[in-house]
Amino acid sequence: MVEEFVVRTTHLLFAAIWAGSVFYVAFVVLPLARDGEFNTTKPLEAISGKLTTISRVSALVLLLTGARLAQTGYTVDSLLGSANGHLVLTMVALWLLLAALVEIGAKRLESGLNGKKLREPAANVLGLYRVAAVVGIALLVVGGAITTGLAASL
Ligand code: HEM
Repeated sequence: MVEEFVVRTTHLLFAAIWAGSVFYVAFVVLPLARDGEFNTTKPLEAISGKLTTISRVSALVLLLTGARLAQTGYTVDSLLGSANGHLVLTMVALWLLLAALVEIGAKRLESGLNGKKLREPAANVLGLYRVAAVVGIALLVVGGAITTGLAASL
């Protein structure tokens, strides 16, 4: 009981932190940078570095806690053969996609910033970060569907 509370709550906390920070960068920080509200590349370099760290730590914690939840709540048959099992597999695929998008976005942004440009690299990666933010929201929606048993009841 206590173990399940700790694992599930840790999973939820890091899901919120990861999806929330990608959303904030995509919809607040990068539009400001694109519109020329930063005077130097320094703040954006720091924000990008911190987001990469948050993303990597969250991805790892979510993988470990998610694997534990899957191990205690599912069998291979129920993962492959039930509605909630399919949603858990969807979650894993979206997890990989979100991690990849944030890594690619950070690499592109940082190489643009290294060239001492600011508005152009921010504009170039905006679309990619917005896709990542939507993937983060989709993950939370999948989580909600699992918790409420939505797919199983349809
Ligand atoms: C490899 C990565 C992941 C695995 C293996 C995984 C697996 C799981 C499992 C097994 C559950 C419990 C299902 C159940 O109660 O029947 C779950 C719940 C959930 N997951 Fe994930 N997950 C992963 C990544 C993510 C990510 C990246 C997010 C969001 C950013 C996320 C958000 C959630 C949410 C919101 C719930 C519902 C929590 C609850 O109500 O207890 N998961 N996940």
